[in-house]
Amino acid sequence: MKMPWMNLLYLAFLFIPLRIQLCYGQDLAADYDDDEPAPAPPPGQDNCNGVFLSYAFTSRTKELPHVKNVTAQSWAFNSIATIINSGTEEVKEWKMFVGFQHREILVSASNAIVVDGSGDFPVAVGNGTTIAGYPMTDLKTSIDTAGDYNQIAVQVQFTGTMFGLKEKVIPMPKTIKLANDGWDCPKPTKYPTYMHVCCKKNPKLKAKSPKGKYLPRQYGDLNFMYDVLKSYEGSYEAQVTMDNNNPLGRLDHWNLTWEWMRGEFIYSMRGAYTHRIDFSDCILGLPGHFLKDLDFTQVMNCQKKPVIADLPADRANDSNIGKIPYCCRNGTLLPPLMDESKARSIFQLRVYKLPPDTAKTVLYPPQRWNVTGALNPQYKCGAPIRVDPTEFPEPSGLQATTSAIASWQVVCNITKPEKKKTKCCVSFSAFYNDSAIPCSTCACGCDDIDTDTCNPNGRSMLLPADALLVPFENRTAKAKAFAHLKHRTVPKKLPCPDNCGVSINWHINSDYKTGWTARVTLFNWGDSPFEDWFTAVEMKKAFPGYENVYSFNGTKLKSPKNTLFFQGLPGLNYLVAETNGTRVHDPRVPGKQQSVISFTKKQTPGINVRRGDGFPSKVFFNGEECALPDDFPRNAAGHCSRVSFMAAIFISIMTFWLITDRFH
Ligand SMILES: *[C@@H]1O[C@H](CO)[C@@H](O)[C@H](O)[C@H]1NC(C)=O
Ligand SMILES: *[C@@H]1O[C@H](CO)[C@@H](O)[C@H](O)[C@H]1NC(C)=O
Ligand SMILES: *[C@@H]1O[C@H](CO)[C@@H](O)[C@H](O)[C@H]1NC(C)=O
Ligand SMILES: *[C@@H]1O[C@H](CO)[C@@H](O)[C@H](O)[C@H]1NC(C)=O
Ligand SMILES: *[C@@H]1O[C@H](CO)[C@@H](O)[C@H](O)[C@H]1NC(C)=O
Ligand SMILES: *[C@@H]1O[C@H](CO)[C@@H](O)[C@H](O)[C@H]1NC(C)=O
Ligand SMILES: *[C@@H]1O[C@H](CO)[C@@H](O)[C@H](O)[C@H]1NC(C)=O
Ligand SMILES: *[C@@H]1O[C@H](CO)[C@@H](O)[C@H](O)[C@H]1NC(C)=O
Ligand SMILES: *[C@@H]1O[C@H](CO)[C@@H](O)[C@H](O)[C@H]1NC(C)=O
Ligand SMILES: *[C@@H]1O[C@H](CO)[C@@H](O)[C@H](O)[C@H]1NC(C)=O
Ligand SMILES: *[C@@H]1O[C@H](CO)[C@@H](O)[C@H](O)[C@H]1NC(C)=O
Repeated sequence: MKMPWMNLLYLAFLFIPLRIQLCYGQDLAADYDDDEPAPAPPPGQDNCNGVFLSYAFTSRTKELPHVKNVTAQSWAFNSIATIINSGTEEVKEWKMFVGFQHREILVSASNAIVVDGSGDFPVAVGNGTTIAGYPMTDLKTSIDTAGDYNQIAVQVQFTGTMFGLKEKVIPMPKTIKLANDGWDCPKPTKYPTYMHVCCKKNPKLKAKSPKGKYLPRQYGDLNFMYDVLKSYEGSYEAQVTMDNNNPLGRLDHWNLTWEWMRGEFIYSMRGAYTHRIDFSDCILGLPGHFLKDLDFTQVMNCQKKPVIADLPADRANDSNIGKIPYCCRNGTLLPPLMDESKARSIFQLRVYKLPPDTAKTVLYPPQRWNVTGALNPQYKCGAPIRVDPTEFPEPSGLQATTSAIASWQVVCNITKPEKKKTKCCVSFSAFYNDSAIPCSTCACGCDDIDTDTCNPNGRSMLLPADALLVPFENRTAKAKAFAHLKHRTVPKKLPCPDNCGVSINWHINSDYKTGWTARVTLFNWGDSPFEDWFTAVEMKKAFPGYENVYSFNGTKLKSPKNTLFFQGLPGLNYLVAETNGTRVHDPRVPGKQQSVISFTKKQTPGINVRRGDGFPSKVFFNGEECALPDDFPRNAAGHCSRVSFMAAIFISIMTFWLITDRFH
C-alpha cells in the first residue's frame, strides 16, 4: 500500500528540524527587525484544519561524566515543539502534552512554562509533561490575524538532559497531543526525528463552550481569584481572593508565594504583608533603572518570589493596611462547615510594571502559585487561567454590579502526603487486647534525627496502653519491660520515634450485640496550641451506624464519603501545647482532647468490629491526612461478649469517666 511519494516525503522529513528552525523559528522569536519573507508552513500542516502540533529532535551530545554503563550516561539534548492554530477557532490557554520517556530533565523551554512543574527548572519530566504558553497563552486564528504566524503559532525550544540510549538511537517522546479539554488528537505520525499530529475540536463537547469570552471557572479544593480592579499607566491594583471549597481543607498561618515573570514588584498591600519588606532589590535592579522618579522607600517588596502572609487580627481596623473584608485572621482559613465567613481570605495589592508592559491594557498575572500552612494539607496549584471578569456588588449598596478589568483563576488541589512525610499519626488500641499499636516508626520523617542510634525501618514496638500518654523518649523502658512480660524479642537497635507533632489514639471501648463504642484522644506534642482544631475519620463499613459523640461536636459529611467530622464544642475548641510535668523529672505532658463515640449495629449487620471494621481507614487532623499503623489489635481468643445493651452503655460511660480522670 506504500505509495512511492511516501518515500520521498519520508526523506524530506529528515531535514525538517533544520528547516523549521531556519525558516520560521526565528520569526516566532519575535525578531521584529527582520525583514525576511513570510515563512513557509511546515509539512503536514497544510491538510490540518485544527491545531497542528509537531516535535522535532535537533541534537544531542554526551555530557560529563562519560561512563561505560549505557543506562547511566547522560546526554544534553535540544528539540523544538511547535503548535500552530490552523483551524477557524481561537485556542485559549493552550496546553501541550509531550510524552517524554527517557528520564528527561528539562533545563529550559522558551515561550512556555511547565504546568505541573513545582517551580523552577530543572524539572524531571521522564513520565511526560504538559507545557502551557507563556507569555502567549492563546493561539488566534489565521482569519482574525491575516495569517500572522506570531499570533497563531508558538515554537518552544527545549534544552535538557536525558539518560540511556545508545549512540545512534534518536530519543523521541512517546506521543504529543493538545491537552486542552474538548480536543481530540489521533496518534501522531512519526518519523525518525520528527512527529506531528493534527488535533480537532470534539463537536460533541461544543455545548459546554463558555458563554463569555474566556474559559469557564473550574473549582478545586482551594481557589484563588486574581482580579485586576484598577489599571493605570505603569501600575495596577489587584485583589486576591482565596476560597476554601473542600470540607476538609484548611490553612493556618498561610504563606502564599508566586513568581513575577515580567519584573513587576509590589508597591503596597492591604489585608496582608510580605515577610520581607525591602526595596533594595528594586533600586539595584531594573526598576531603579526604568522608574527614575519613583520614591522607592515606600515600596513594600521587590522579590521575584515574595512570601505573602495574612495580617494578625489586631491590624483589621488599621486604615493604612487593614480595612478589607475577610482579612486579618493571622492566616487561618477554615472549612466552610466550621464557619462560612472564615473559609475566605482577601487582600489587595498595588503592582508596578516595567517596560515594555507599562500600557494600561497590558496585564499579566504572577505564575507558579504555592500556598503552605502550619499543620495542614499540602496543596498543588495549577497555572493562572484567564476567566471572565469577576463581578462585585456595588460597594455603596446600589443595586448595581461593578466588574474587574481582568480576572485570572488559580485552582489548587490537596495532595496526599507521601509516606513518612505526614505531620500527624494514629495509634490503635482495644479493650480486648492489652497491646497498643503505636504510631509507625518515622511516620512524620526521620530526617532531623540521628538515625545511627535507632532503626528508621524497624517496626514500632507494641506498648502497654499507659505508655501512649508520655513522650516517646520516656516510653523505652516501658516498651522493653512489656516485651519481656509478653516474651517478645527486643531488637538490638530500637525503632526510631514517629516524630509527629500530633498523634491520635483510636481505642475500641466496647463491642456488644447491638452496638459498639470507640474513644478517640488527640495529643498535641508540639509547642504551639491548635485553635479551632478539627479531626475527621473515614469509617468504611461502620459509617451508617454512627450514633453520637459525647464531648465533641460531630457531623456526618456528605462528601468525602463515609467521613465523620469532629470539632471542639464551644469552649473546648483549643488543643493546648505540650507542657512540663508537675515535678522536675516528670515526663512532659501533651495537650489532650478526648471523646467517646457510639455506633449501633442496626444499620450495619455483619460488621466485625474486632477484625478491622471498628478502625478508621483514614484519619485527618486539621485537614492533613495522618499516617495509620499497618496493623490493628487482634483478638486471639475471638469470643464475643454477651453483655446487655444497657450494661454496655454503662460500662463505656464509666470507662470514659475513669480514663478522662486518668488522662488529666
Ligand atoms: C547502570 O546504571 C543504572 C542506572 O544508574 C543501574 O541501575 C545499573 O545497575 C547499572 N548497570 C551496571 C551494569 O552497572
Ligand atoms: C511549595 O513550597 C513548599 C515549601 O517551600 C515546598 O516544599 C513545595 O515543594 C512547594 N510546592 C510547589 C508545588 O512548588
Ligand atoms: C514516573 O512514574 C513512576 C511510576 O509511577 C515513578 O516511580 C517515577 O518517580 C516517575 N518519574 C518522574 C520523573 O516523575
Ligand atoms: C500569628 O501567627 C504567628 C505565626 O505566623 C504567631 O507567631 C503569632 O503568635 C500569631 N498571633 C496571634 C495573635 O495569634
Ligand atoms: C474593628 O472595628 C469593628 C467595628 O467597629 C469592631 O467590631 C472590631 O472589634 C474592631 N477590631 C479591632 C481588632 O479593633
Ligand atoms: C456543631 O457544628 C455544626 C456545624 O459546624 C454547627 O452548625 C452547630 O451549631 C455546632 N453545634 C454546637 C453545639 O456547637
Ligand atoms: C512562612 O514564611 C516564613 C518566612 O519565610 C517562615 O518563617 C514561616 O515558617 C512560614 N510559615 C509557614 C506556615 O510555612
Ligand atoms: C483539581 O481538581 C479538579 C476537580 O477534581 C480538576 O478539575 C482540576 O483539574 C484539578 N486541578 C489541579 C491543578 O490539579
Ligand atoms: C523522660 O525523658 C526526659 C528526656 O529524656 C528525661 O529528662 C526524664 O527524666 C524522663 N522522665 C521519666 C519519668 O522517665
Ligand atoms: C520546662 O522545663 C524546661 C527544662 O526542664 C525548662 O527549661 C523550661 O523553662 C520549663 N518550662 C516551663 C514553662 O516551666
Ligand atoms: C494483640 O494484638 C497484637 C497485634 O495484632 C497481636 O500480635 C497479639 O497476639 C494480640 N494479643 C492477644 C492476647 O490477642
